[in-house]
Amino acid sequence: MSTRSDSPNLAPPLSSVLLSSAGVVEGVLDGRSLTDALSDVSSALRPATQAVSFHAMRYLGWADAVGRELVQRYPSVLFESLLLVSLTLLKEEGEAAAQLPGMPVYAAHTVVDQAVTAASNTRSLASFKGMLNACLRRFLRERAALEAAVADSPEAQWNHPGWWVKQLGIAYPQDWQRILESANVPAPLTLRVNRRRATRDQVLAAFQDAGLQAQPVGQAGVVLGSPKPVTQLPGFAEGWWSVQDAGAQLAAELLAPADGMRVLDACSAPGGKTAHLLELADIDLVALDADGERLERVEQNLDRLGLASDRVHLEAADAADLDAWWDGKPFDAVLADVPCTASGIVRRHPDIRWLRRENDVRRTATLQARILDSLWKTVAPGGRLLYVTCSVFPIEGARQALEFMQRHPEAQRLDAPGQLLPVALDATPAEQHDGFFYALFAKQS
Ligand SMILES: C[S@@+](CC[C@H](N)C(=O)[O-])C[C@H]1O[C@@H](n2cnc3c(N)ncnc32)[C@H](O)[C@@H]1O
Repeated sequence: MSTRSDSPNLAPPLSSVLLSSAGVVEGVLDGRSLTDALSDVSSALRPATQAVSFHAMRYLGWADAVGRELVQRYPSVLFESLLLVSLTLLKEEGEAAAQLPGMPVYAAHTVVDQAVTAASNTRSLASFKGMLNACLRRFLRERAALEAAVADSPEAQWNHPGWWVKQLGIAYPQDWQRILESANVPAPLTLRVNRRRATRDQVLAAFQDAGLQAQPVGQAGVVLGSPKPVTQLPGFAEGWWSVQDAGAQLAAELLAPADGMRVLDACSAPGGKTAHLLELADIDLVALDADGERLERVEQNLDRLGLASDRVHLEAADAADLDAWWDGKPFDAVLADVPCTASGIVRRHPDIRWLRRENDVRRTATLQARILDSLWKTVAPGGRLLYVTCSVFPIEGARQALEFMQRHPEAQRLDAPGQLLPVALDATPAEQHDGFFYALFAKQS
C-alpha cells in the first residue's frame, strides 16, 4: 500500500523524474515517439519517468490549454514541457497529486516545489524558476477559473487533437466519446499462450503459484490483474507466451492457416502475428517488412518462442514492390497487417495522437491501397487475404475495404468482424481490447 510522502524512500527524487519526463515530452513535441524518447533516460529513472510521461500524454491537451492561459510565450520547449508535465500531475482536484503506478502519492505542493527545484538545477531553466513557480501556484489558486476558460476546447476536454475529435464525431455519432475516453484508460497486460510450448492451464497455474492474478481471454489469451515487467513473469524466457492485445489475437485465428499452406505475412515486424500463425499450423511462411531493423525483432521473437525453422523465410522488402521479393509462387493465405495511423491503440501508445497530423490519415490510406492491390496479385485462386489495421478511422477500414472490392470484383468478402472499436471504459480486463479493422477476402478460383 502506498502512503502519502513528501520525501519517499526508494523512489528517485521527484525533481529528477519531472525533469527527465519533461525531456521526454519535449522529444514527443519534437516528433519523437515516447518509446524512442524514453530510451535516452537512465535505467534508474526510467520506470518513474515512464509512468509520469505516459500520464502526461493522456492529459496533454488539457495541460496545453491551461498552459496557454498561464503563459503568453514560453521561454523554451523544455520549460513548456516541464510546466505541462507538472500540470498533468496536479490535474485532479485536492491536496494530493495524481497517483501513478509504482510511485508514491505526492502532495500537490510537493509537485510544485520539486518542479521549481528541477528548474533551479538545470542551467537553461534556472533563470525561469520564478516564472514556473508563479504559474504553478496560480494554477493551484485559480484552478476553477482556468478550467472554465479552457472547458470549450475539444483538445482540453478530450485530450486528443481537435481534427481527431472531429473525424471520430463524424464517423461514430453514437460512440465517439466512448472511443476517446477508452483511449485514456491504461491497458491491461494481455498475453497469448504459445501452444507449441505450453497450455493455457499451465501458464495460469504458473502465474497463480507466483501469486499473480490472471484469467483466460479469447482462444489463447491470458490477461493479468495488474501489469508487471514481462521478464519477471513465469515462462518468458521459456517462450510460453507473447504479449499481444486480445483484439490483435483475432488476426491469425481469422486467417486460419492449415498444415502445409504457403502463407505470406506481408508487414510482419515485430512478429506478434507471425508467431501466432506459426503456433497454429505447420506452414511455409514468408515474413516481409520494409524496415530491416524491425525485422530483426521478428527473428528474435521467433527464436525465443522456438518457432524459427527452415520453413520460415524473412525478407526486408517493400510489400508493394513485387519484383523485389516475389518469386511468382502464389500464397494460400496472405496477412496484410498494413502500416496505419495506429489510432486504435492509443491507450497503449498515448503519444500517437500527438504525433499524427491530419493529412497522415489520407496519406496512410493511399499507401495501404497500394500495398493491398499488390498483395492481391500474390493470392492463389481460392486463397484468402486478411486486411488488418489497428485504426478507428473508416478511411483506413470500412472505406478502404469497400474501395478494394470496387477495384477487384473477383474478390469475395468473407465473414470477419469489420470495425472493432476499442473497449476499455467500464469493462473488466478480460473484456478489454484495442481498436482494429478486419476484412477477409477470398479470391474466386
Ligand atoms: C502494424 S505493423 C505490423 C505489426 C505486426 N504484423 C505484428 O503483429 O507484430 C506494420 C508494419 O508494416 C511495416 N511496413 C510499412 N510499410 C511497409 C511496406 N511498404 N512493405 C512492408 N512492410 C511495411 C512497418 O515497418 C511495420 O513493421
